[in-house]
Amino acid sequence: MSTKIKQPNLVVGPAPATAPTPLTRQEMQRQLVFQVRERLVSDLRSLGSLSDTEMVQRKIAGAFIEVLGESGLVLTRSEREQVLERASAEILGYGPLDPLLHDDTITEIMANGPDQVYIERGGKIELTPHVFDDAAHLMRIIERIVVPLGRRVDEASPMVDARLPDGSRVNAIIPPLSLIGPVLTIRKFSRVPFGVAELISMGTCSDELIEFLQACVRARLNIVVSGGTGSGKTTLLNVLSSFIPDDERIITIEDAAELQLHQEHLVTLEARPANLEGQGQITIRQLVINALRMRPDRIIVGEVRGGEALDMLQAMNTGHDGSLTTAHSNSPRDTVRRLETMVLMAGMDLPLRAIREQVASAINLIVHVQRMRDGSRKVVEVAEVSGMEGEVVLLQDIFLFRETGKGTAVEGRLEATGVRPKFAERVAKAGYELRPEVFGYVRCK
Ligand SMILES: Nc1ncnc2c1ncn2[C@@H]1O[C@H](COP(=O)(O)OP(=O)(O)O)[C@@H](O)[C@H]1O
Ligand SMILES: [Mg+2]
Repeated sequence: MSTKIKQPNLVVGPAPATAPTPLTRQEMQRQLVFQVRERLVSDLRSLGSLSDTEMVQRKIAGAFIEVLGESGLVLTRSEREQVLERASAEILGYGPLDPLLHDDTITEIMANGPDQVYIERGGKIELTPHVFDDAAHLMRIIERIVVPLGRRVDEASPMVDARLPDGSRVNAIIPPLSLIGPVLTIRKFSRVPFGVAELISMGTCSDELIEFLQACVRARLNIVVSGGTGSGKTTLLNVLSSFIPDDERIITIEDAAELQLHQEHLVTLEARPANLEGQGQITIRQLVINALRMRPDRIIVGEVRGGEALDMLQAMNTGHDGSLTTAHSNSPRDTVRRLETMVLMAGMDLPLRAIREQVASAINLIVHVQRMRDGSRKVVEVAEVSGMEGEVVLLQDIFLFRETGKGTAVEGRLEATGVRPKFAERVAKAGYELRPEVFGYVRCK
């Protein structure tokens, strides 16, 4: 068998002006991939959808055998596998990005034009050997990401935000805005969010707090997780949601799907921004209203920011209890104030007292998380919304974080205030006894 690589018979692109120079093996593979794709273009177009991946894989393998036979090339077994893999990635996936997307140690992918693909791994940026054939190739991959989402990217709209099916956030910006060709940035979605064990080992929650929160979720209390940006609200909401029993119908509503729940009966909804013409927006608020017609046992709203707060409060007050959400705030007291403001944003012109009554009767518990000066996240306050006194919404602290150290690393613990929440009886009736130890001295590493 000759080891010399023969030229492929098929000529790709414009014919070279001079005699062809021998191709490197890498270029050879690239051409094979290209030819497999070309051969399948019309076939696949007639299919309409690539959802039957097995069938498409078979077609790819068939086309590859044909192309390889016609080219007269001899490839090693591993080269054959590589070409086949790359052809599948081209046709079914995101081309050269596929292996990077599958590598869980990579947190960010940045293509600066077709010839430079950087990644971030462990906080460090590295240049990869992965490249695109040319700018048109990179554009094709960008389009494959954004077109199924009803977005487009072209000279008229050269910037776009999108998301991959796994939740990774994508931004693309192309010429004429970018002077180095299409630029694609992918922030990969972390596949495994923190769970109970991590929250405890990182000192965010104590065992007792988890036991308490689990009982509260199961007993269908309405809970708001509050905190600043990046304080770990969504992460904690995800953990709280995981306590919902399997036999309940859960509807999640988010701006960008971040929650990762494992219950079987789960409907995930995502709001949609307006398109470039300013149309087609679907707000969180519309989704909340729609969710009420979907027979939910639980409604989980990723974050309340505006008028949807009113619809959520109304839902909580009309039998849809056990709802969970997060809100941006500086303390549980501030959370109540912000909820009032958000309700006003619904534009219903309600008197303040009526709004406060809604808040007081809807929300049972506010769990406040904070990003501490040493970077750790801690639950620093857990307050019951215990009712109204005059015009004021009453808050009763059940747990408070008390700092013991003075160093840069935050030391201290979440302590029970000794107050037994009013809802303790309700929780007990639902069959989740809150052990007295939980309200005793609560440890937090
Ligand atoms: N309990 C925690 N301990 C340490 N880091 C955390 C914790 N919770 C979240 N993080 C990290 O903080 C960042 C923001 O978390 P997220 O839950 O999205 O915050 P928020 O919703 O408040 O903006 C993420 O990178 C996440 O990995
Ligand atoms: Mg969040």
